[in-house]
Amino acid sequence: MTTSSSERGVSLGMPELPAPAYPDDVRARLERDAREVIARYPDSRSALLPLLHLVQSEEGHVTRTGMQFCAEVLGLTTAEVTAVATFYTMYRRKPSGDYQVGVCTNTLCAVMGGDAIFSALQEHLGVGNGETTDDGKVTLEHIECNAACDFAPVVMVNWEFFDNQTVESAKRLVDDLRAGAEVEPTRGARLCTFKDTARILAGFPDERPGAVEATGSAGPASLVGLRLARGEAAPARVVHPRGGEAPQDEPPHEPSPTEHLSSHDAPQDTSASDPAHPAGPVAEEGE
Ligand code: FES
Repeated sequence: MTTSSSERGVSLGMPELPAPAYPDDVRARLERDAREVIARYPDSRSALLPLLHLVQSEEGHVTRTGMQFCAEVLGLTTAEVTAVATFYTMYRRKPSGDYQVGVCTNTLCAVMGGDAIFSALQEHLGVGNGETTDDGKVTLEHIECNAACDFAPVVMVNWEFFDNQTVESAKRLVDDLRAGAEVEPTRGARLCTFKDTARILAGFPDERPGAVEATGSAGPASLVGLRLARGEAAPARVVHPRGGEAPQDEPPHEPSPTEHLSSHDAPQDTSASDPAHPAGPVAEEGE
């Protein structure tokens, strides 16, 4: 006789179905919203990602009820919905805080202080990766590169950027969030809760004051890269002081071959400079 995984007390991470139903009024409201989302796509199943954000905006994470709802309104199987919901990290699978605080610990941010910030916040908040403070305000997590390396180390709260962070500024940030103080991201509109963010990601209007006008430009390091790509001279080193403006128009400086500001600046052998190791496939002798 075989025993099921639940009988053995083993969790496979799959939702147990059927799920409890939404209350009638919630279901009616979500169906109205879902129809609006689905109407944007030629094929209804394409609406799955925004609908998962929609159900996440209802409960703060994607529940079994939310996945079953998506399956029903899109004519998909719950297995198909589960496969998508468990693949993307922007869908939370358990109750979490009002503010998702993500510390980038990808390579560049890590060496610029992201690792130190993450471990300081773990200690300061008394939580580990993916855990939520007792007051339900802050969920802390590692995040991967958010394409904001110019501003490393970067912390994101509900996907809004906090650039050039330090251990101290990150601690102040989470303290302010927990105290309910108004917190402004470095770029973008004012912060809203995770549920509100999820509704915006579902495709509903972002009604935060200034949200539509809010913009940002490439950071100084990227702009220097652009100049170099265009064949223009650029500063030898880009310094982006925390909380200050980066120098944009320093006089060009050509470093001597022995002058390098860090090991990162040292020239590396490339196929152009190292003919013994050319790029691309190397033909066997005689071919
Ligand atoms: S490594 Fe952190 S934003 Fe790219």
